[in-house]
Amino acid sequence: MSCKNIYITTPIYYVNDVAHIGHAYTTIIADAVTKYSKLLGYRTFLLTGTDEHGQKIEQSAKKNGKSPKEYADEISDSFRKLWDDFKIEYDYFIRTTDENHKSGVQFAFKKMLENGDIYKDKYSGNYCVSCEAFFTDTQLIEGVACPDCGKVTSVLSEESYFFRLSNYTEKLLTHYRENPDFILPHSKRNEVIAFVENGLKDLSVTRTSFDWGVKLPAEMNEPHHVLYVWLDALLNYATALGYGTDNSKMEFWQPKLHLVGKDILRFHAIYWPAFLMSLGLKLPDHIGAHGWWTRDGQKMSKSIGNVVKPRDVVETYGLDPFRYFLLREVPFGQDGDFSEKALINRINGDLSNSLGNLLNRLLGMAEKYFDFKFSSKLAVFKNEEIEIEKIISRLEDLMFKLQIHKYLEDVWEILAIGNRVIQNSEPWKKIKTNPEQVESLLDFIANLLAKVSILLYPIIPDSSKLIAKSLGIEISAENYDLLIRKSQKIESFNLTVVPPLFPKFEPKIESNNISQKNNIVQNSQIEENLAPLEELSGDGLISIDQFKNVSMRVGKIVSVDEVAKSKKLYKLRVDLGESRPRQIIAGIREFYSADELLNSQVCVVANLQPAKLMGLTSEGMILAVKDNDGLSLVRPERERKNGSKLS
Ligand code: MSP
Repeated sequence: MSCKNIYITTPIYYVNDVAHIGHAYTTIIADAVTKYSKLLGYRTFLLTGTDEHGQKIEQSAKKNGKSPKEYADEISDSFRKLWDDFKIEYDYFIRTTDENHKSGVQFAFKKMLENGDIYKDKYSGNYCVSCEAFFTDTQLIEGVACPDCGKVTSVLSEESYFFRLSNYTEKLLTHYRENPDFILPHSKRNEVIAFVENGLKDLSVTRTSFDWGVKLPAEMNEPHHVLYVWLDALLNYATALGYGTDNSKMEFWQPKLHLVGKDILRFHAIYWPAFLMSLGLKLPDHIGAHGWWTRDGQKMSKSIGNVVKPRDVVETYGLDPFRYFLLREVPFGQDGDFSEKALINRINGDLSNSLGNLLNRLLGMAEKYFDFKFSSKLAVFKNEEIEIEKIISRLEDLMFKLQIHKYLEDVWEILAIGNRVIQNSEPWKKIKTNPEQVESLLDFIANLLAKVSILLYPIIPDSSKLIAKSLGIEISAENYDLLIRKSQKIESFNLTVVPPLFPKFEPKIESNNISQKNNIVQNSQIEENLAPLEELSGDGLISIDQFKNVSMRVGKIVSVDEVAKSKKLYKLRVDLGESRPRQIIAGIREFYSADELLNSQVCVVANLQPAKLMGLTSEGMILAVKDNDGLSLVRPERERKNGSKLS
């Protein structure tokens, strides 16, 4: 196992407001990638913290009748407490008001000055306090407003030190070219390149109009200047490791991944690498820029009162479901929408039905048939094992390229294999005739879940630990190596019952405020009142949304022809209320005469891809029920309008 160091960071959060879903999103992605790296046996260092200087904080503190430091202390604590309660495994929580950070920043500034990258001049331009960013006249909206947040900018004219950003234009472009994965996802990379290709201006990096910031090094004798908040803030990634002071953790340099939101990508993908080049420090491997969250399709804002507070969501729905939702719902880099309805769908469908149910089925069968203990040497499910190995081989790359939604889709494919195999094996029948085969089925499912528990640990750590406990294994780098990398199998199991994993929630029609716990359907109730539906449930359990993907419609058969050279097939034309009847080739000739069919209504799956049967195109499938005694068509009980939907 490699002992490579992996350094991962979140942005440091402004202390002008409490945490919202966007902050939780970045932090949870960072935590997931860190946990995954630990499983792979890497030494990790996860950094988070708070960004406490600048005019914006100074103004917010004033509004709240507090000194900037008092105000920063309070909000910084609330962030730290939130991450503690969310069990984020950060190694260090940095505050930009920490003395060692400030010393490190001054050290860096001196170094840039010595390198000739800093010079003094006069700045005159437009400044957005909310974004703490400068803009040229042509960048402003209607000549006054910030192009990023829309707020009115102010004109600054002051003496300032400048960083020679313009000198780095070519070096940055070369770096982007030579390191195609430097900015993830790739769509964002193109935006950055286009921006830099337009030419970079030198950057004003000190301010004299306020003083809530890091002072310039004393020997420069410039008491009226404070450092630009973004220079101060970006350097946190280095000072947190002791850069410029004791260098105590610099063995973790260089960063594997800086996670940021798309709004602050420019600072991280342009300014930051230029600063690092100036300081002679290695550039990060990746800057991952995620999209923004909206709520029920609307932009979140304090004035509308629709900001999603992560603590409220977790109190109602649980930490693991929240983590899963955030990481599964949206492809990294794209904007996403939070709604309780979507969250509940993920919990009831993916977590409860596919994952929780597979463990329940295993536990149920293990208890009933083998008193929880089983082992098998039969290789009945070799093909499925190969399929699973193939899926697993894709996962590491997906996680490190931040395609976590795809990673999860793949893990759910593994679960679908498990559920399908139970369904197809019909253990409830076979247990009487072939118990060895049922034992091998349980062995296969338990091994599958052992792998899944490890693979899901970075995403849903508490639930994964429970699954592992139930199987009698531990989640560890050692087991990752054995079960995931080396595809070894666990030879025997003695299962333990664990509490139901994912309580279901009443499906939500409308969502406004995060509802209280009373919409939880207590799992214990389901367990007590209903015997498990072993024979019909299982693979194929789908969410209502998946069901809605199938378009089933009523239509009238308007012509019936026999298909030449076939005893079984009719060529039907079925009127579904469209511009012409559909041609459907149906294998029902042995069961129905043409007279029985003509002018009668049937139900049709209408959105199947067209298929060819005996050289004829079939544009749908007629629904029928078949058993040992024959076949009957599914028909509406009363005549309905052609084209009406089944639901
Ligand atoms: N302090 C700077 C970061 C300095 S890092 C050296 C900052 N802080 S912030 O608190 O305003 O934002 C922190 C993160 O939250 C950013 O990555 C930003 O993209 C993210 N989000 C803010 N609103 C968001 C959403 N609505 N959705 C997703 N993320 C969002 O910027």
